[in-house]
Amino acid sequence: RGGGLVLGIETSCDDTGAAVVTTDGRILGEALASQADLLVQWGGVVPNLAQDAHAKAIDRVVAEALAKANVQEGDLSAVAVTIGPGLSMCLRVGVSKAREIARVHRLPMVGVHHMEAHALVVRLTEKGVEFPFVVLLVSGGHNLLLLAQDVGQYTQLGTTVDDAIGEAYDKTARLLGLDLKRGGGPALEQLALEGDANAFNFSVPMRHRQNCNFSYAGLKNQVRMAIASKSINAEVPLAEADPEDRRLRADLAASFQRVAVLHLEDRCRRALEWARKINPSVQCLVVSGGVASNQLVRSRLNYISQEVGLRLVCPPPRLCTDNGVMVAWAGIEHYNRGMTQPPPPIDETSDCW
Ligand code: KG4
Ligand code: ZN
Repeated sequence: RGGGLVLGIETSCDDTGAAVVTTDGRILGEALASQADLLVQWGGVVPNLAQDAHAKAIDRVVAEALAKANVQEGDLSAVAVTIGPGLSMCLRVGVSKAREIARVHRLPMVGVHHMEAHALVVRLTEKGVEFPFVVLLVSGGHNLLLLAQDVGQYTQLGTTVDDAIGEAYDKTARLLGLDLKRGGGPALEQLALEGDANAFNFSVPMRHRQNCNFSYAGLKNQVRMAIASKSINAEVPLAEADPEDRRLRADLAASFQRVAVLHLEDRCRRALEWARKINPSVQCLVVSGGVASNQLVRSRLNYISQEVGLRLVCPPPRLCTDNGVMVAWAGIEHYNRGMTQPPPPIDETSDCW
């Protein structure tokens, strides 16, 4: 079985994820419980509700991942768990489950940084992604450009100064009265297919800033003002909107998306140039996080990578969003280099880490 089996646990935000992966990179079993219903009901993540949902789901999700892998807890070589960043109440649910398993079976543990897990999972699914590479992480909570020089060695090239792109997609989708059940981003991407991306001339953020940072709050406000000026009633769900109203919303979605992605392109072009000055052997641009499943994002970033002779690599969509596999794999990258922590004390009663 490739020498070892690592269980990964993820509970940093609104998905409870677990997976068993072999140390030579085979996914044996994975399970995920999402809180999509809560998100739609409350319009965002409410920490104590999210914590309750994790607490209810964690045992089942871990058991399901182990059962699919046909593995017993005692067969594991190590337990990896996300320790941050994220909602501390939620992180604690995963961490105490991981500690319990590690304590009972005397297993080493790996504390995983959530963004590192997003950044490294591509090395599990795609061949030939060697360090150094540039990573763009685009999710609901983060907008990050990193130069990954080795496991645990990252240089930050850029971050968001306000909203992350996924958050801007979600908020814009809400403004447009879209069905948020499958997530604001996918709903907006789908509606944008019907629209004219040049119908609204939104301005591209930070065009004159000589850095790699992102800003999406202004773009969202441009959409808000455009909606007000066109007197669209976004209280009416899209499915009930008349054809004219629907076309306007599609035009807004497409125009928003065009500019949101142009901003990504600008920042990535600059980051690739900068990264290659720091380390000329960069070969890949890795794009991960929930927004990496967006087709326009992928095709535009593929274009700008090829412009400078680099390869664009993205994890498969299901591994771009939060999941247990990426945590198990990041744990394995550490484990394979001997970077683990000892099992918790046998007589431990506290669950803090
Ligand atoms: O990585 P992720 O699952 O969770 C965070 O760590 O935030 O990312 C979720 C974000 C949400 O904002 C969601 O709307 C966005 O990713 N997203 C998309 C698409 N699929 C998910 N945004 C744009 N287009 C998509 N196809
Ligand atoms: Zn994430």
